Amino acid sequence: MCGIIGYIGGRNAVSVILEGLRKLEYRGYDSAGIAFHAGAGIDVVRCKGKIKELAALVEEKHLSGASGIGHTRWATHGKPSEENAHPHRSGGIVIVHNGIIENYLSLKKGLIAKGYAFTSDTDTEVLCHLIRDHADDRPLEDAVRAALKEVKGSYAIAVISEKDPNKIVGVRKDSPLVVGLGEGEFFVASDVPAFLNYSRDVLFLNDEEMAVITPEGVLVTTLDGSMVAKEVTSVTWSPAMAEKGGYRHFMLKEIFEQPRAVSDTMRGRFSLETGEVNAEEFGLSLEVFQKITKVYIVACGTSWHAGMIGKYLFEEIARVPVEIDIASEFRYRRPLIGPDNLMIVITQSGETADTLAAQREAKKLGARTLTICNVVGSTSAREADAVFYTHSGPEIGVASTKAFLTQVMSVYLLAIALGRARGALAVAASRELLQELVMLPGKIEKTLTADEHIQGIARRYFQARGFIYLGRGINFPIALEGALKLKEISYIHAEGYPAGEMKHGPIALIDEELPVVVLAPRDNLYEKIISNIQEVNSRGGKVIAVTNESNGEVCEISCNCIMVPDVHAYLAPVLLVVPLQLLAYHIGILRGCDVDQPRNLAKSVTVE
Ligand code: AGP
Repeated sequence: MCGIIGYIGGRNAVSVILEGLRKLEYRGYDSAGIAFHAGAGIDVVRCKGKIKELAALVEEKHLSGASGIGHTRWATHGKPSEENAHPHRSGGIVIVHNGIIENYLSLKKGLIAKGYAFTSDTDTEVLCHLIRDHADDRPLEDAVRAALKEVKGSYAIAVISEKDPNKIVGVRKDSPLVVGLGEGEFFVASDVPAFLNYSRDVLFLNDEEMAVITPEGVLVTTLDGSMVAKEVTSVTWSPAMAEKGGYRHFMLKEIFEQPRAVSDTMRGRFSLETGEVNAEEFGLSLEVFQKITKVYIVACGTSWHAGMIGKYLFEEIARVPVEIDIASEFRYRRPLIGPDNLMIVITQSGETADTLAAQREAKKLGARTLTICNVVGSTSAREADAVFYTHSGPEIGVASTKAFLTQVMSVYLLAIALGRARGALAVAASRELLQELVMLPGKIEKTLTADEHIQGIARRYFQARGFIYLGRGINFPIALEGALKLKEISYIHAEGYPAGEMKHGPIALIDEELPVVVLAPRDNLYEKIISNIQEVNSRGGKVIAVTNESNGEVCEISCNCIMVPDVHAYLAPVLLVVPLQLLAYHIGILRGCDVDQPRNLAKSVTVE
């Protein structure tokens, strides 16, 4: 996610803003910029790369100012570059933005027709010109209000104007924005760490609230101008905790960010009315979708688990044959992939060496490549024929959580798009599947409320010598993912198995000491999984069942039971994995492990 900081007060705004941007670096970014009132106008300095390059540019010009705004950009629209970096300017209006403007293309067309010239690929520049288009002789806040009435999407923005040198206007919708209250100085930021060294008194803005900040103070209103009385929160977090939004670890923060990550990734990518996924979001034409004879999928680790779920979905929904490989295996066999095939590459970082090698091998053999990736402008994204960006925001914890959920969502959307393009999925059925997706963030939120209960289960089993995870069908990959999460951050040995495999060997492992996590949603394999639970029980194993709220009987036959909301079988993996992420996290903490930076692991494995 992008980082925002704005300042009005008696200090040198340039220094305060640069310091604030440094405090936001942990959020991950690929470019940065600053804008401040200097004399008659507003100076804007931006660069691709890190804050230190930006600071060098500012320092060599000996720039200073009384108020201003700054930004660290995590690219979602438009590659990392100086032109795409924020702040963006239109005439005397300057803006920084965090979020996604869904209808930016239609707004852009209208603005171009009015004669506005664009210098970037970003949705943010569209918003800047739109505010200017409404500016006339209005106060800045009224121009911002008028512009936002035309906008669909998520935003946290800070806006300044040459005509109003002592004012910053901040507004948020679905993207956080907070106001810091100092002694005769005021801050606006995407996150508290940006100004924690100067103030701990914070106004947390709610959606569609606007803060108008001047040297005299802060006025908070709704978007239609009604005054809002805000309570001041005194933040007691340490700077380290503030970087994690009050969570102890990035991994926990990112687990709890999953509802927003899923919302952001689906935003603007399909229409419930038509029941259609915007195929162009995948960068491939309808004709290509119709001509594909077979889909290949390659990935590593957690991303490979997302790919396995994709296999189930593509074959079930789109009726297209799928072959899936771990990338390091694909690249060394002689795959029969060719021009009529689509290679789907799934990679959070876009830099995994084995995955890149497999992608290049497929391209060399003539296949079309589509990468599902979380990092704009990454190597995999640049080398693929088409890209579908997940919008989970930077994932700092080495163990992938929110990125995985958005990868699963992406293959779900792609399966629907393929199914519709190939006539395998009727529009009514497509609409139903999309409706299930719309309800998903709320169901993830509800699943997260089981955190304390899961912590109790972790306390019971954190000293176990090993775990087994069992799942069937589309949830078998979640058994693998749950086992990987536990291994990665608690260093306990854990195996994921197809539950039907128990009798072919693993059942020998079952005894009173062995916790067995069983994924038992109400689906077409439910009766089979009940038998597996009985098998484990009869040998004294300790079952930890994860099931749907409507499946109370599972809890009656299991030592431990975690319930998730009822959900369509195709989306069960998304809900079932969340308790497993929390279980692994709490066990890792109880074992004193570094859950954000586990031993021997890197966030992106850029070597073979
Ligand atoms: C997942 O928790 C691990 N960090 C690891 O398995 C990861 O998924 C794998 O290295 C692939 O990374 P990528 O998605 O960036 O390609």
